[in-house]
Formats: sequence, structure tokens, C-alpha cells
Amino acid sequence: MSIHTNDVKRVTTHVLQEMKMRNEKISMLTGYDYSMAKIIDSAGIDIILVGDSASNVMAGHETTLPITLDQMIYHACSVIRAVERALVVVDMPFGSYQGNSKEALSSAIRIMKESGAHAVKMEGGKEILESTNRILSAGIPVMGHLGLTPQSIYKFGTYVVRAKEKDEAKQLIEDAKLLEEAGCFAIVLEKIPSSLATKVAQEVKIPIIGIGAGNGVDGQVLVVHDMLGITHDFSPRFLRRYHNLYEEMKGAFENYIKDVKSLNFPNEKEQY
Ligand code: KIV
Repeated sequence: MSIHTNDVKRVTTHVLQEMKMRNEKISMLTGYDYSMAKIIDSAGIDIILVGDSASNVMAGHETTLPITLDQMIYHACSVIRAVERALVVVDMPFGSYQGNSKEALSSAIRIMKESGAHAVKMEGGKEILESTNRILSAGIPVMGHLGLTPQSIYKFGTYVVRAKEKDEAKQLIEDAKLLEEAGCFAIVLEKIPSSLATKVAQEVKIPIIGIGAGNGVDGQVLVVHDMLGITHDFSPRFLRRYHNLYEEMKGAFENYIKDVKSLNFPNEKEQY
């Protein structure tokens, strides 16, 4: 009898590999704080990514570049305190792993030791292979991230779909294979043609998680603020909004303000 992932007490990298083998799709969402992570985990998500998109949705920066290692560890600690079942993966922030593999390892060790997270994620292929190998050699599971890699936004210049041209697509497939050979347990593919993402998912044995990469991959990830409609000025084609929390929350705040101003809150029953 095969074990369905709903029966799993803790999602591990091994569980994810088994899910790919039996063609069970992997669900992943970002999470940055205790309260939200508790709700996401209790809903039964497989992976929570403490994404460096915290730089955008939590801190209000235009890019993911400014967030620091200390700030990522702070978010990771909050998420870890909430999570009972999901695998928690933490983004290595810009500047914490690119230049020097020794520094990359010490950044990854800080994340694992100080937050209790289960794995780290890094953007890039062969250019970060030395860092990837070094981190993996310390027994730290690594998730790769190829395609649109927001930490390189100033190199790309825009957030448009990546790897549409033959050369870039070929490089992406090579990079995915390099990451697999190195020992990464999964790879995120962001904003690339779905035919290319499907090809990668077929050609590598590790799980491929897509965002804007179609449905031929092994799982999907979204930024939680985007899928809940808390952000409302960001509408890429790949995004499905499951709620319009921006409007709902704004309405609740407006009602509260009205009640306070009109002395409708607190009422007789809401005081001592
Ligand atoms: O930081 C993030 O939220 C991410 C996802 C978009 C995959 O890397």
C-alpha cells in the first residue's frame, strides 16, 4: 500500500522524492511569520519557503536585494516556531553565497543553526556550483532556483519570461542537470516557457517546482501575499488569486475606524 502524503507526519526531502516518483504534485507557498505559517501548515502544505520575497511583501523594497541574512533568519525562526508538518526551506539572501563558497557555507550554517530550518535555497546554476557543493557537503539540503532569478534583476533588467531563446534554454537544462548531479533535492523554475519546464521535469529525477512554468512540472509555488490578494498591484499571467484580502481587510479597517469615531466600539458588552 502506498502512503499518501496526507498521512505523512513530517514532510522530508525523501517524501518529496517519493511524491515525484508516484506523480503526486507538491504544494509550496511562501511564509514569513508565525501566524500565517501556522495557517498554511495546518492546511496541509508540503513546503513553506521563507522566501527573500519578504524583502518585497514584508519590508516594501522594490527588489529582493536589500534583505539581510539576519532578517532572513528572523523570518525563518518565526515560521519554524509555527510549523509541525511542512518542510521549511529558507532563501539564502543576495550577497550571502555568491562570491565565496566558504562564506556561503557559513551563511547556510547560520540559517540552519539559528532558525532550525530544514533546507536552504539558492539562485543560479554553474556559477554557484562551488558554493552549492560546499553546503551540500556539510549535510545541508539545497533547493536550486533557475529561470527568472530575482536576485539578478539588475543583470536581466526586467522581470520578463526567461529562456525563450535556444541558447538560454540549453543553458538552463545544463544547469538543472548540474544541480541534480551535485545533490540538490529539488529545483524551482521561475517564469519560463511551460514546454521547457516540462522537459526539465522529465529529464531530471529530482522534483521541479514551478512558478509561472506551467503544469508539466512536479509542483507549484506562489507568494502567499499574491495568492491571497493582499498585494493588488502585481498581476502576472501565472498568478491565480484565491482571495481578494486587500479589499476585505481594507473594509474591516474602515469599519473599525468608523466604529471608533462614532463611539460604536466598544459597546456595553465589550467593556469591564
Ligand atoms: O522568494 C520567493 O518568494 C521565491 C519564490 C518566488 C519561488 O523565491
